[in-house]
Amino acid sequence: MKYYENVLGLIGRTPLVKINRLAFGIKATVLAKMEQLNPGASVKDRIGVAMIDAAEREGVLKPGGTIVEATSGNTGIGLALVAAVRGYRCIFVMTDKASVEKRRYLKALGADVVVTPASAKPGTPDHYISTAQRIAAETPNSFYPNQYAHPANPEAHYRTTGPELWEQTEGRITHFVAGLGTGGSISGTGRFLKEKSSAVRIIGADPYGSVFKTYKETGQLVAATPYLVEGIGQEIIPENVHIKYVDEIINVTDRESFEASRQLGKVEGIFCGGSTGTNFVAALRAARHLDENGVVVFIVCDTGEHYLTKHHSDEWMKEKRLLEPQKITAGLINETKNLNSPKTLVSVSPHERVADVLAKMNELALSYIPVLEEGKSVGAVRENRVLARALDKRELLESPVSDVMDVSFPVVDVDDSAADVTRQLRSSPAVLVEEYGRITGIITRHDVLDSPMGNPRE
Ligand SMILES: Cc1ncc(COP(=O)(O)O)c(C=O)c1O
Repeated sequence: MKYYENVLGLIGRTPLVKINRLAFGIKATVLAKMEQLNPGASVKDRIGVAMIDAAEREGVLKPGGTIVEATSGNTGIGLALVAAVRGYRCIFVMTDKASVEKRRYLKALGADVVVTPASAKPGTPDHYISTAQRIAAETPNSFYPNQYAHPANPEAHYRTTGPELWEQTEGRITHFVAGLGTGGSISGTGRFLKEKSSAVRIIGADPYGSVFKTYKETGQLVAATPYLVEGIGQEIIPENVHIKYVDEIINVTDRESFEASRQLGKVEGIFCGGSTGTNFVAALRAARHLDENGVVVFIVCDTGEHYLTKHHSDEWMKEKRLLEPQKITAGLINETKNLNSPKTLVSVSPHERVADVLAKMNELALSYIPVLEEGKSVGAVRENRVLARALDKRELLESPVSDVMDVSFPVVDVDDSAADVTRQLRSSPAVLVEEYGRITGIITRHDVLDSPMGNPRE
């Protein structure tokens, strides 16, 4: 029989996959190291088991003990897998910047999760690292791995990730690209590759706003500014960042990182997180000037499933003003319009009584309502016009809506652009949204003006 003793046997030995369509025009070979295929779906499974093995060996983690760690999520998942298999309890401290998917994932693996504000500064009591340290100090029989300083973190990559890349590329790797969170991946893998060949270039991919690029280039620590990519970049230099193994740091914007991550899913079928997008942008920049002998490997840090409510959601991208204007469609405006608007389209049939329709509009605070027949728009009721007519002719209240309705609002397709919607709204107070031949939504002038995107023409 062929089987693993437990799920931890699945960690590591991840394959390389060539980037094809997105590397168009590039002579070098660009390869993705598929770390999202680890059992906890990220590169951090490697260090979870390594830090726990070390703690067990050193006797600092005893049977029935509690693991307490500060994490952007993935290290927590790696640790929680080990805890599940070996019977430890886990408490993880994450900031409110981390995706809700990672938080739920950790809870599903049996961990307790404490959330702190991302705005708390390092060293203050609310900061996620200070909070984890305090909880560890207050919890009997606990172990605080401290991935930012634990030597088993870079060591795990020195022992596994580095040798795997050397072997998989038959020693032909010329560039290695990784982000820096704790610094473990780049320091450990970088050290191994540099020992094999000093010619291998180690490139750090870092969000604009993080401190690493200036630190590498000047030795100075500048003030960090916020960015949205999770898991990489820092405000301080963790002990596990061994910058001597890093040749160059490339800064990448949130917009570039998220767009690259989305493209990797759509065009290469590699469904990944935002930090993978950061790495990929840096990898393409490094590969651009290389000839056929170039072999550039970047890390796929984790799965896109951790970010379904984040950058893989058009709604989130639109809210963060990261979606390119041409990608803001009528369908997206309809889905993300004013939270107070009804979520499903409210419509009436041409046969309904005017009095009933007015009562419905009053109840739902609607000024306009489309009149639909078999999914098609046949007219529109404008409350103020119908009320004005009913004042003079009360019996109209008993008539069918077809007797008082106006012409239909213009219809746009779900995929029509925000500019098309705006154009129609100049002459009509509302437009209807059609999807596969059925009217499924309505957009008013208010919906466009109140949208988090503001004026969609910008
Ligand atoms: C999503 C993600 N990408 C990249 C990294 C960076 O890896 P490292 O901590 O080895 O520098 C992390 C680490 O937290 C992460 O969570």
